Amino acid sequence: MEIPVISKRTDSYSIFIEPDFSGFKERFAPLFPDAKKVCIVSDESVYSLYKESVEPLLKESFEVVSFVIKPGEASKDINVVLEIEKFLKESGFTRKDVLLGLGGGVVSDITGFAASLYHRGIAHAFIATTLLAMTDASIGGKNGVDFEGIKNIIGSFKMPSLIYMPLNTLDSLPEREFYAGFAEIMKHGLLADSRFYMWLVDNMYEICDKDKDTLAQMLETSIHIKRRWLRGILLRTETERFLTSDTLSDMLWKAISQANMFMVRQLR
Ligand SMILES: NC(=O)c1ccc[n+]([C@@H]2O[C@H](COP(=O)([O-])OP(=O)(O)OC[C@H]3O[C@@H](n4cnc5c(N)ncnc54)[C@H](O)[C@@H]3O)[C@@H](O)[C@H]2O)c1
Repeated sequence: MEIPVISKRTDSYSIFIEPDFSGFKERFAPLFPDAKKVCIVSDESVYSLYKESVEPLLKESFEVVSFVIKPGEASKDINVVLEIEKFLKESGFTRKDVLLGLGGGVVSDITGFAASLYHRGIAHAFIATTLLAMTDASIGGKNGVDFEGIKNIIGSFKMPSLIYMPLNTLDSLPEREFYAGFAEIMKHGLLADSRFYMWLVDNMYEICDKDKDTLAQMLETSIHIKRRWLRGILLRTETERFLTSDTLSDMLWKAISQANMFMVRQLR
């Protein structure tokens, strides 16, 4: 499924929601005819799981190097970004080469920010492997790192050239991370589209079973809502601004986790 993202102020790009990695090469390679090198930015957990799914596809067209960070929020650090800049320079990257993020929201933020700095901006693309990255973190071109205890205080706006979402990666995602992303999606339904919220409730079993068609349909609607928010169509009042903050996601996530743990205990 392709969702074209057309913006007057920025280059257009597409989001692809696909069952697996099989469609990646044909989407990625034609976008960068002048690039010689690709640097994959990933975290240790995701890289070890999906390196073999991505690297061979890239190696047919590009010289491929990798920069692997530690998993978790602590990697959203300006020094990690500077290490990537150094690595790109030492690997001989030019302004025509490409950064490819492979991972969740942490990798998305780091990759976009690093790409926006090198040579004052080189192209980047992203393969999202968490539900939160698919529905939220990779959408909208916001990239940030934490600084002196404040989240996302340093960053940049830079649109990717492509966002690719292989749904099979959600099979390896820890349940806790899956439901954190799902809480964000429920928030989209609750605040912006009651019919979508009811659809989520009606399709809860298929979603929890990670049925690929259901997940693709869910993400398509959720991404459209996120994009309407980003364009300012839905954000009208301070109350709505508060409700779309992380507070409601956190509350929903805690409620879903509690309910899920309760169900797991009941089934044992
Ligand atoms: N820039 C934005 O607009 C925006 C929006 C929302 C969130 N964010 C940021 O996103 C970050 C959170 O993102 P996240 O929830 O994706 O967390 P994450 O990137 O830290 O990933 C969560 C964990 O799941 C692991 N993982 C990822 N994909 C996996 C897979 N397919 N299989 C197994 N393990 C996998 C990772 O290694 C990590 O340990 C926060 O830093 C937040 O600030 C940014």
